[in-house]
Amino acid sequence: MIRLETLTGDAIGDALEDVARLRIAVFRDWPYLYDGDLAYERRYLQNYQVNAGAIVIGVYDGDWLVGASTGAPLADHADDFQDALTGSGLDVSTTFYCGESVLLPRYRGQGIGGQFFDRREAQARTLGHTHICFCAVVRPPDHPLHPTRYRSLERFWEKRGYARLPGAVAHFSWKDVDQPAETKKPLQFWMRQL
Ligand SMILES: CC(C)(COP(=O)(O)OP(=O)(O)OC[C@H]1O[C@@H](n2cnc3c(N)ncnc32)[C@H](O)[C@@H]1OP(=O)(O)O)[C@@H](O)C(=O)NCCC(=O)NCCS
Repeated sequence: MIRLETLTGDAIGDALEDVARLRIAVFRDWPYLYDGDLAYERRYLQNYQVNAGAIVIGVYDGDWLVGASTGAPLADHADDFQDALTGSGLDVSTTFYCGESVLLPRYRGQGIGGQFFDRREAQARTLGHTHICFCAVVRPPDHPLHPTRYRSLERFWEKRGYARLPGAVAHFSWKDVDQPAETKKPLQFWMRQL
């Protein structure tokens, strides 16, 4: 049976290794193409463990973690996004940040991605936030690894009320599966009012 659990604090720590492995497995695919690094994953996820207000939603098939989604007050990520958000008009202190959603392919298409948003938006409201955002990698349309058949999530995000925040583009580096070293990637911010 599939069940979702919203984890906070030490419960995030307990799930950390499984979430890290899941991120690495799912983000290997287009459009992330992430050649995962477990040490980086642990450091990244520990921020969610220690930050009050942060949540990790785990999806379990029995005891097996098959999906996860993260969210935290944007203020917890302020340093990472300072350049991207300066001049955007977004108030960091009242905005919630959706980290990522990953679900093993065989569990997709059953509404779990929608529940990830429901739970993160609910957490944002509980914290008294007025806005919620996330960012998504932008790949060139002629990228050699672009799959011939790929179902973009953009329509789904728009249906949920999210829109691109003009000019708000962050840059992050990671090693792509087809590259010998890290390269910098643009990530577009999307936002909605709650
Ligand atoms: C994002 C993700 C968690 C959504 O999970 P999901 O449970 O399939 O989502 P839902 O069933 O709620 O459907 C949401 C949208 O996903 C897309 N979708 C549905 N079934 C799908 C499938 N079998 N395969 C791929 N995408 C699918 C559709 O666009 C759908 O929107 P729509 O129903 O309005 O058309 C999942 O697709 C995933 O892990 N993708 C890879 C990682 C990623 O890109 N994460 C997002 C950025 S961090």
